[in-house]
Amino acid sequence: MDHSDFAHSSVLYREVLGYCEGLEAVGDGVVVDCTLGEGGHTEMILERYREIKVVGFERDDAILDIARERLDKFAGRVEFVNDNFAAVEDHLLSRKGKISGFLYDFGISSYHFDRSGRGFSFQRDECLDMRLGKTSGKDAAYVINNYSENELTDIIKRYGEERWAKRIARFICRKRSEGPIERTLELAEIVLAAIPSRFHVKNIHPATRVFQALRIEVNDELSAIEESLQKAVPLLAAGGRIMAISFHSLEDRIVKNIFRRLSKGCTCDREPQYCQCDHAPYVRLLTKKPLLPGDDEVALNKRSRSAKMRVCEAL
Ligand SMILES: C[S@@+](CC[C@H](N)C(=O)[O-])C[C@H]1O[C@@H](n2cnc3c(N)ncnc32)[C@H](O)[C@@H]1O
Repeated sequence: MDHSDFAHSSVLYREVLGYCEGLEAVGDGVVVDCTLGEGGHTEMILERYREIKVVGFERDDAILDIARERLDKFAGRVEFVNDNFAAVEDHLLSRKGKISGFLYDFGISSYHFDRSGRGFSFQRDECLDMRLGKTSGKDAAYVINNYSENELTDIIKRYGEERWAKRIARFICRKRSEGPIERTLELAEIVLAAIPSRFHVKNIHPATRVFQALRIEVNDELSAIEESLQKAVPLLAAGGRIMAISFHSLEDRIVKNIFRRLSKGCTCDREPQYCQCDHAPYVRLLTKKPLLPGDDEVALNKRSRSAKMRVCEAL
């Protein structure tokens, strides 16, 4: 494999490296890369900080094999966990030391769009699968062909933030009454027909939001984020950091709300002097506003253009 293929494709790589500085002296010197993917961030962290070790979570075993090969040169400094990052506690609680950092780079990788053959892209004619890893039961074809019109409307609206959700769901149900919808291009055409052409947005395929919604539903992505972030905080050493990179508002909202809540002391509704909740803040926010990639990064890596990173530090 030519590793130059990967060069700088990891989003907000300078910012991630910046926030890893000093983590070797915090807790046990272990950074948990919760979204290992092809191992880009992990490779950079291990190269830059010789004292840091990484535990990498990846729920998709096919892409994990690519990361294993890429990171082979760091044997002894990297551990691989083929599981959902929602299970961080199960894998990390029994460790002796506390964790120095958690990194999240949500969503899927370019491998999934371009090479997985699992129907993540509406630009290729593939089966509607969209499962990350083999454990999850229902695939995208199941959702499209079995959910009621109301359920489809709901997920397209909620996870795709698509204003034409109801009409798209109606078109899907009409089409599937003629036979099951099984291919990506078929679905993309249905969506295209459902949204009146004067509402098509330049440079954004009308099916983008529907494909995002399906992927989120199939993999239950948002619950995993919420569960993992909450479980990560108690595992962190004081001074340890959580870096979370989001690509759409649904992900970012979860990160923002959890970080805010954990950074507040009192969570009850009373005046401070009558507080009964007795909560102390667990973290402080290191980024009051999310960090965005610079123009130079966006020019080199289009995928980075919607990225936002938030960072907090355990107290
Ligand atoms: C954007 S990619 C990560 C890219 C990586 N940071 C890099 O620099 O190469 C996100 C990865 O996280 C994985 N992933 C998504 N949700 C996950 C979850 N809940 N648990 C574990 N891995 C997950 C996806 O399979 C994908 O490979």
